[in-house]
Amino acid sequence: MATATARFLRDLSTDPAALEALANEAKEFALELGALRHTEGSPEVVTYAPFTLFPTPVPRDAFHQALEVQSHFNVLMDKISQDPRFLEDTLASTIEADDFTARLFDILKRVEKEGRTQSIVLGINRSDYMFEQSDDGTSRLKQVEINTIAAGAFGVSDNIPVIHRHILRLVGLGDQCQSIPDCNSTAGIARALAKAWQLYGQKEAVILFHVENLHFVSFNHRNLQEMLRKRGISFMRKNFESVYESGRLDSDKRLFIDGVEVAVVFHRDGFMPHHYTEKGWEAKLMMERSLAVKCPDISTHLAGTKKVQQELARPGVLEKFFPDQPQVVEQIRATFTGLYTLDMCPEGDQTVAMALDSPGNFVLKPQREGGGNNFYEDNIVRILEEVKGDARRAAYILMERIRPKVEHNVLLRRGLPIKLTPVAAELGVFGAYVRNGGEMVLNEVLGHIMRTKGIDYEDGGISRVAMYDNLIHY
Ligand SMILES: Nc1ncnc2c1ncn2[C@@H]1O[C@H](COP(=O)(O)OP(=O)(O)OP(=O)(O)O)[C@@H](O)[C@H]1O
Ligand SMILES: [Mg+2]
Repeated sequence: MATATARFLRDLSTDPAALEALANEAKEFALELGALRHTEGSPEVVTYAPFTLFPTPVPRDAFHQALEVQSHFNVLMDKISQDPRFLEDTLASTIEADDFTARLFDILKRVEKEGRTQSIVLGINRSDYMFEQSDDGTSRLKQVEINTIAAGAFGVSDNIPVIHRHILRLVGLGDQCQSIPDCNSTAGIARALAKAWQLYGQKEAVILFHVENLHFVSFNHRNLQEMLRKRGISFMRKNFESVYESGRLDSDKRLFIDGVEVAVVFHRDGFMPHHYTEKGWEAKLMMERSLAVKCPDISTHLAGTKKVQQELARPGVLEKFFPDQPQVVEQIRATFTGLYTLDMCPEGDQTVAMALDSPGNFVLKPQREGGGNNFYEDNIVRILEEVKGDARRAAYILMERIRPKVEHNVLLRRGLPIKLTPVAAELGVFGAYVRNGGEMVLNEVLGHIMRTKGIDYEDGGISRVAMYDNLIHY
């Protein structure tokens, strides 16, 4: 099935004029559908969001495996967030070595000491995967990480299946369209936010989109905001600075901003150190101490750190969270790849030796989000040589390098030449849950997104720039 598109693409690439015409058609359709992004730092200059001309073939089984395990990841993240002891033990060495994690952890300590005000919990996460190429030619699902704060790329991605089906029909491959699944995670995100808002129980209260940029709304957020509006839910957009300036807690710790009560704080910012000024830290603490439902709350934010991911891969740890559910443990563990501690202990020493011996087999990761923070090849050696002898090394974890299955596609992005390019696809699965005290009232798998990156053979690595994509399963 999928090879039909691959074959077609190969033939098409020998006819540059036809390829260019098809690419132009796809770009125009994207503009018409509103698959857009701002450009030139302007609120009124837009271009199409970068995307692939064709969908990427993915084995049906691997796709379903990722969807099926997601409700378990939802429960796992929620359980970790309710276990401050586990977080403290797991992050102890990281906190020593990494100021950012330490400051986030300080907020957790402060809130725990005061007593948590809100028993409604809302989690919206995205588990990311690559398809590892096995020796027998098949590909296996491997988790890259799970994002518990500001999991993005919804919204615009909902349009990609529509574009891909249009292109396939145009080139006479319309029979393949049924193998392209829909994307509609945005509706599910709206549902989860609305559920938390409704449980909060104040009709006049709003959902706060805590964003970095107040000047213009990302198109992804605009789609979501429209869905909330249709449900009769108001929202406001504020950054750290404006929350600090115009926010206050009343005697019941209800959060008011510009005098309006906030039911839910939806954090789309605050996951990188440079997002914070001292006022930013104050604002984060105020929101965290408040009665508003936080998405995520500080413990769920910390549950998404790479150090926690590494700890979960140790023998016996998943079993602690799912003591009577060996099948659940097995399903989750099947997605893991090698994860190794760099703590100051004999196990950490072994990790250092292993990484220095064959750096090409690993990725070195600090406790950061937002892309562009990981180290490969010579950089692993450079950093480990510098920090291997002291506790600074505990700021990182080491991860086995996933060797992705390489496909070919045409990457459409303003300014990029139109040509067949080797690419690797990454699948993300969105999950959401709402817990009200002891009761899970919503646990949903919201759907998938695909993003595809060009492979840069010279660099031996994968480009940082991701294109929206969708899958075609076989
Ligand atoms: N183990 C791995 N093997 C191969 N490539 C990897 C591995 N881990 C990460 N990558 C690549 O690096 C990218 C970023 O990794 P990761 O998601 O861990 O970092 P991040 O800063 O949290 O990024 P994001 O903004 O996507 O949350 C991935 O999308 C993938 O392309
Ligand atoms: Mg991340």
